[in-house]
Amino acid sequence: MEYKVKDISLSDKGRLKIRWAEQHMPVLREINNIFSRKKVLKGIRIGACLHVTKETAVLVKVFKHAGAEVALAASNPLSTQDEVAAALVEEGIHVFAWRGMSWNDYYDAIARVISFSPNITLDDGADLTGLIHKLYYKESGKEVDLALKIIDEQPDKIVSGIRGGTEETTTGVIRLRALAKEKRLLYPIIAVNDSLTKFLFDNRYGTGQSCLDGIIRVTNILFAGKNVVVAGYGWVGRGIALRARGLGARVIIVETDPIKALEAYYDGFYVTNMYEASKIGDIFITATGDINVIRKEHFVRMKNGAILANAGHFNVEISIDDLEKISQKKEKIRENITEYILHNGRKIYLLAEGRLINLAGAEGHPSEVMDMSFSNQALAVKYLLSRKLSRKVYVLPRNIDNRIALLKLKALGVKIEKLTYEQKKYLSSWEAGT
Ligand SMILES: NC(=O)c1ccc[n+]([C@@H]2O[C@H](COP(=O)([O-])OP(=O)(O)OC[C@H]3O[C@@H](n4cnc5c(N)ncnc54)[C@H](O)[C@@H]3O)[C@@H](O)[C@H]2O)c1
Repeated sequence: MEYKVKDISLSDKGRLKIRWAEQHMPVLREINNIFSRKKVLKGIRIGACLHVTKETAVLVKVFKHAGAEVALAASNPLSTQDEVAAALVEEGIHVFAWRGMSWNDYYDAIARVISFSPNITLDDGADLTGLIHKLYYKESGKEVDLALKIIDEQPDKIVSGIRGGTEETTTGVIRLRALAKEKRLLYPIIAVNDSLTKFLFDNRYGTGQSCLDGIIRVTNILFAGKNVVVAGYGWVGRGIALRARGLGARVIIVETDPIKALEAYYDGFYVTNMYEASKIGDIFITATGDINVIRKEHFVRMKNGAILANAGHFNVEISIDDLEKISQKKEKIRENITEYILHNGRKIYLLAEGRLINLAGAEGHPSEVMDMSFSNQALAVKYLLSRKLSRKVYVLPRNIDNRIALLKLKALGVKIEKLTYEQKKYLSSWEAGT
């Protein structure tokens, strides 16, 4: 069996971690029962590029129990839980992931997943799907050259075996929609991120809590009384803002979208631009999916001791290039903290090299939240296999969202009201008036 992980002897620890996650993922457990009984994925090869966490382990085990072969690479060089990766190898998953991968290691691992000739791809950030497309269209690039050394099969042969793919996060969906817009998407994609039972809970409550968890684990700072600047008031940003306020921080929102800025204002936050915020913030958290959100003109205005963290998918939101250029010295002073001493003498602390703080500094989202996100992933794979879809980006139908929500409510022991026949009729008619 092919695999590459940090230390296979960590597998016992990993197995216990996965057991803890399984305990908190009741909806996925239910799906596992159905999938494994019917062996719904018999003979299917799944190639995944996901954060290798205990929750991802629960998901790929569902696929394995359902009869699939799975190859798994990491979707971020710093997010792999090495003990989980080791335990998955023992479960028969081809894992190519460890914490602290170099850029070469990272794309080498993704290339190995492609050379596994998957029928379904699972992605978080679209690096796997993107590389498949770059190989097929013979685009140039360092990652393409590297992959060509590993993959024996012709790219068009690999693509012809792919029946569809899924995408977990906002940034990945944006990239894949851009490909579809150019009419270059090679196979149907389900935007799992866009299911209501994904983004409303995972992006908001999952990232909201786990990002603060990451910052606290890495720095052990007190949030109460701090000025916390959150860039982006989308689903991730509003979750972070909500939780930071709950810990007693004064939260400042920076937004480019006028509607969302107005929403943040009426939600009771102070709203301003980054130029002004950079002078008053103690902690800065980016959550935009955008590039260079905090850059030179902001760093030089910051208070001595300002802390910078990123929650967005890629490490491009805080301009590390600018930070390097305006610094006289940098030093790693604690795990996941780099101290930059600027030419103006002030110190700025960058957490986790600007990578997703919740995964690099903590354990990612709580399992309860990933229960819904990954139930969408599991049902999306079945959906892709049971239909003939075009080369477009799809959102799962509402009835699947409702089914996941109902299963979650049942697991939580929450009752909801049922519409009577009379109410259903009333709500769908036009005759009744004043
Ligand atoms: N850390 C995690 O575990 C995790 C989980 C889910 C999503 N994500 C990632 O977080 C990012 C945000 O996701 P989302 O679902 O909140 O997206 P979203 O589209 O709902 O929100 C992004 C917001 O950022 C704003 N924005 C864009 N450029 C900006 C700028 N320069 N300054 C200020 N605001 C700006 C947009 O107007 C938008 O309101 C994405 O990269 C996504 O992939 C991370």
